[in-house]
Amino acid sequence: MPARALLLSGLLVWAILIVSAPARAAPDHARPENTRPDQARPENALPDRPGADRGATIGRSDPSAGDTRRSGFADMRPDSQAMQRDDDANPGMLGVMAGAALWAAPAGTANRSCADCHGEPARLRGVAARYPAVDSRTRSPIGLEQRINACRIDHQRAAPLGRESGDLLSLTALVAHQSRGLPIAPRDDPRLADLRARGQARFEQRIGQLNFSCRDCHDTLAGRRLAGSTIPQGHPTGYPIYRLEWQGLGSLQRRLRNCMTGVRAEPFAYGAPEYLELEAYLQWRARGMVLETPAVRP
Ligand code: HEC
Ligand code: HEC
Repeated sequence: MPARALLLSGLLVWAILIVSAPARAAPDHARPENTRPDQARPENALPDRPGADRGATIGRSDPSAGDTRRSGFADMRPDSQAMQRDDDANPGMLGVMAGAALWAAPAGTANRSCADCHGEPARLRGVAARYPAVDSRTRSPIGLEQRINACRIDHQRAAPLGRESGDLLSLTALVAHQSRGLPIAPRDDPRLADLRARGQARFEQRIGQLNFSCRDCHDTLAGRRLAGSTIPQGHPTGYPIYRLEWQGLGSLQRRLRNCMTGVRAEPFAYGAPEYLELEAYLQWRARGMVLETPAVRP
């Protein structure tokens, strides 16, 4: 694209952002969603039963003054929020149920199920809250989907599940759902710190023909409106999510690819190490915020 056209399209995006900026005097954290007193309840003491009002548990686990972080949940319309809150209406729960069936089914030449080794899915409560994590076997960082596929290959002796396949999304949703209500809790490990540092640099780097960084949108412009939707702070609290636009479950990688094509950047290939870097940084940036899987998003 010629330089002048580039400049013009950049200016156009800024014009849209500025014109649609809400005249909001109060800072985000003063909005009612985040000031509900029941948010102060210890999240891991919450019952996890179908249909329970979990809207109250979404946000920060420690809503102390000065923490202005908010989940994308708080930026959604009330009808989408209601859909996420109610397990009977949340379409992401179908993925969790499909994951439970896969969990119990023997697979591969080892002919073993996840349940044979791990027992009830609830025994993995807390696991998703610390991923990406350092793998106990390879001693290098690994994402949750990759970790599940490592069990497929090493322990079930089965073929790995395809990225964004329904089966991998369902199993990941099942495992992550076990940590719903728990705060995101990345481990303090130098190998993760390196990964995060690279992720942070990436988050701050301007990309694409529109020349925007993740931070430009998710820190500087968060809360403003872009093409009809509110720019969220970009916290990875609900993955895999059920996205209404996708009409299905999708991973954090898929979400990040959407953000990259949104600024006319070429997304990294699925499974590229750059995603793990970004995920590790996003996880650190959202530490202490409560997991919502399966979240609903527009
Ligand atoms: C034969 C036993 C076996 C089977 C079958 C198995 N796993 Fe595992 N899994 C393990 C072991 C052992 C580990 C610890 C890491 C390692 O040594 O590979 C593990 C680790 C994990 C972890 C990471 C736990 C943590 O604390 O970080 C997850 C998540 C997981 N498995 C999910 C699954 C899923 C989902 C399935 C079914 C698709 C499955 N596993 C099948 C034995 C098994
Ligand atoms: C031009 C602005 C813009 C840029 C640049 C951008 N995003 Fe986004 N991002 C959005 C918007 C808008 C949404 C919400 C879309 C929707 O749900 O309607 C979003 C959603 C997200 C979400 C989902 C949050 C949730 O609640 O599930 C994450 C995570 C995210 N972005 C991370 C990133 C990362 C990492 C980058 C850099 C690689 C990036 N974004 C770049 C605008 C942007």
